[in-house]
Amino acid sequence: MATILVTGGAGFIGSNFIKYVLAERDEQIVNLDALTYAGNLANLADIDGEPRYRFVRGSIGDSELVDSLLRELQPDYLVNFAAETHVDRSILSPTAFLETNILGTQVLLQAARAIEGLRFTQVSTDEVYGSADNGERFAEDAAYNPTSPYAASKASADLMVLAYHKTYGLDTTITRCANNYGPYQFPEKLIPLMIANALEDKPLPVYGDGRQVRSWIHAEDHARGIYLVMKGGRPGEIYNIDCGVEKYNLDVVHAILALLDKPATLIRYVTDRPAHDRRYAITWDKIEGELGWTPRIDFETGLEQTVAWYRDNQPWVRRIQDKSYLSYYQEQYGQRL
Ligand code: NAD
Ligand code: TYD
Repeated sequence: MATILVTGGAGFIGSNFIKYVLAERDEQIVNLDALTYAGNLANLADIDGEPRYRFVRGSIGDSELVDSLLRELQPDYLVNFAAETHVDRSILSPTAFLETNILGTQVLLQAARAIEGLRFTQVSTDEVYGSADNGERFAEDAAYNPTSPYAASKASADLMVLAYHKTYGLDTTITRCANNYGPYQFPEKLIPLMIANALEDKPLPVYGDGRQVRSWIHAEDHARGIYLVMKGGRPGEIYNIDCGVEKYNLDVVHAILALLDKPATLIRYVTDRPAHDRRYAITWDKIEGELGWTPRIDFETGLEQTVAWYRDNQPWVRRIQDKSYLSYYQEQYGQRL
């Protein structure tokens, strides 16, 4: 049984990863998470009492804690999910994105060097490639062209991971995934925000003309891809993860309204996000060809299941909609709406 140190495992994708690995694989996991506004131990309630799992509260930026945890655990793998992840928040206040996503990742990399045989997997994003023209799709060797402070911080972290591989011989892999959706996603991102608002008959704020394109993948498919890269990816390599479900934002919003039987009059076209990337599109033949990964959840089924989950778990959403959420919501949408 291998030991995996997961960071940021109380968030959306990290919690999916932990639950997938504990259910399907013979591994033990330690989860280091600072429990920021996005971290939520309720996401992991299903594994309460699981003897192969342990939670440690703390920041990846705390080098003393990270050093001593790694020395104690001597993990076989470190998978870094911990990050500030929301583009709109990165536009409002970028500093935390640099601190966690760049400096925090460097603290982990530096500590990882001292652990014999450790493999470091960085969970990155297709946003590092920036916006793609129609018909264009970025492979792993495409140039970095990040737009938002979030994307720039993730691109910086990727470069640092590659630098540690090349300079110090650290065994690293990087995954770059498309937009995720599924249960337990914080209701600041497009799909859960629209579901949560529609459930309460609140306006649905669509940025600009709503014809930006995102490619959607279920977080469980992403989690399985990360596991395969962690286990079998080649050292120093990058693996894109996507399944080519390209949708206009507006079409996604209409699909949510239809599933909830709510009227399109809830839609409000609001001031666009500054420097809004028009389209994300990446290839995924490398992970398919080398590691045998294929997506399992089609978008229609996944969206229906996700909408049903939010409808049936409104206490989970309401606990998140606390004072700090409402103050963010007011700052982001107050003027726009
Ligand atoms: P999330 O915002 O839901 O969760 C982030 C988690 O990181 C939270 O549990 C938070 O408490 C924790 N965290 C934040 N700062 C920390 C720190 N300093 N130390 C320890 N823990 C800290 O994010 P998510 O959507 O689950 O994304 C996880 C990873 O996947 C991120 O690295 C993100 O860049 C990447 N990613 C996300 C998407 C997406 O669509 N959501 C797509 C591609 C890649
Ligand atoms: P988001 O979920 O923030 O992911 P990302 O910006 O990382 O792709 O946004 C997805 C798309 O939805 C993006 O084009 C911005 C758009 N969007 C809206 O139109 N309204 C909103 O309230 C939000 C949060 C996003």
